[in-house]
Amino acid sequence: MAKESSYFNPELSLSREEMLEYGYKVVDMIVDHFDTLKDLKPVSRATRKEMDERLAESIPQKGDSPDNVLRFVEENVLPFTDHTTHPDFYAFVPSPNNFISSMTDVIATAFNIFTGGWIASPGGAEVEIVTVNWLLELVGFPVKEGGGVFTSGGSMANLTGLTTARKIKCDEDFEEAILYMSTQTHSSNVRAAKILGFKEDQIKFIPVDDKFRMDVNALKNQIKKDKKNGKNPFCILATAGTTNTGAIDPFVELHEVCEEEHMWLHIDGAYGGAAIICEKGKEVLKGMELADSITIDPHKWMFQPYEIGCILVKDHRHLYGTFSENPEYLRDIKGNADEINFYDHGVQLTRRCRGLKLYMSLKTFGLDSFSAAVGHGIELSEQLENYLSQNPDWEILSKASLAIITFRYHPHKIRMNRVELDNLNQYISNSLIRSQEAMIVTTVINGFVSLRMCTINPRTTFIDVKRVIDLMASYAVNYLKDYPG
Ligand SMILES: Cc1ncc(COP(=O)(O)O)c(C=O)c1O
Repeated sequence: MAKESSYFNPELSLSREEMLEYGYKVVDMIVDHFDTLKDLKPVSRATRKEMDERLAESIPQKGDSPDNVLRFVEENVLPFTDHTTHPDFYAFVPSPNNFISSMTDVIATAFNIFTGGWIASPGGAEVEIVTVNWLLELVGFPVKEGGGVFTSGGSMANLTGLTTARKIKCDEDFEEAILYMSTQTHSSNVRAAKILGFKEDQIKFIPVDDKFRMDVNALKNQIKKDKKNGKNPFCILATAGTTNTGAIDPFVELHEVCEEEHMWLHIDGAYGGAAIICEKGKEVLKGMELADSITIDPHKWMFQPYEIGCILVKDHRHLYGTFSENPEYLRDIKGNADEINFYDHGVQLTRRCRGLKLYMSLKTFGLDSFSAAVGHGIELSEQLENYLSQNPDWEILSKASLAIITFRYHPHKIRMNRVELDNLNQYISNSLIRSQEAMIVTTVINGFVSLRMCTINPRTTFIDVKRVIDLMASYAVNYLKDYPG
């Protein structure tokens, strides 16, 4: 590859040959990554000091050859990242990406498709319309009247949904407006409420039942109390698969409350909403279609690389009514009413073509493959629950629900108090992460430090899962070997 030309290159361009050579190297790298992922450690750790030593420098006045920079990144950046796509990554909500979508992102980026307005890319806009329509159909929203927009992720989708709910239910007058969510809601919803200017006493956290679902009676009592105090209950924010335990709020009952009180029902299905594409998911998510808006996060359980979330609404006019603006410099690109300008449906004007990866991967693999992949995740967590329940030293703290299960090591022959058990389980997680063999972090369930596994990767096998459980048990045995109890 010509080196001299790269040192100073005011057109910032490569020749065709240089692009081919560079492009093939990048493709090789990506294919190698996918092909050998299972052999890599899912966890990486480095301190700020170590990373500074590798990367911190002043802005380079002169360039370097593309090859050198690529190699540098290969050695100093890429090894220092967790692999959330790895079959042994069970923490948070993993992102079991797929190759087609990754390559599609390269295409969408290289063609720099602008999906703000129709006129700039009818192809990109139509892909988003078609793909959003598929999602509308999957969740049971009316395709003709419904609408949606792709966002950077679940947090932005929840913010977009809540902004819409506030506009439609309260317009400008939201001083007395009250928003309800369970104590298990994802923090992005609390953040969204704060961004929108809701004060702390406008956000009511409703307790949950023994299955971590919003307690409808407690909700009704709170609404009654708030109304008595002259407040305006306007939105219930329910969850289809909480991050902590995979719990599903009772949508049918919550919808009844919304009907009675003229409130908006938003369902945060960022994690679990996509489970609706498989039979088991459909069963447990019954009533999701009753919502006014739903967040779905394809970069979680629809196997897409970051970043793609989606807000779906039952009535597309609600998004337009909330977000459309008419600045004079966009007057020439307004277009026809049926040619959707997605900048009128959400926060972003300039938007990348997020829908293309979901579109191409669904067209390539087909919905049946996606459904089976989601079903596999649910099955794995149920198998895991069964495996844990056969060993008296493991205690299940929340049963498998939408591919999430929480549990702790609780040796039945040794007496340990709550703090000692907390320390033991924290030790297990820390040891596992230190080993880099698998990624599992702790959470807190009913006040107990708990291990938590989210088994949504379609390439994870039960053998993988068992190996990790047995590894954690061996850490526990080692920790307890000199234990006095
Ligand atoms: C239930 C739920 N809502 C919202 C989010 C936030 O989504 P994102 O991280 O894509 O912004 C998450 C992330 O895990 C989640 O589990």
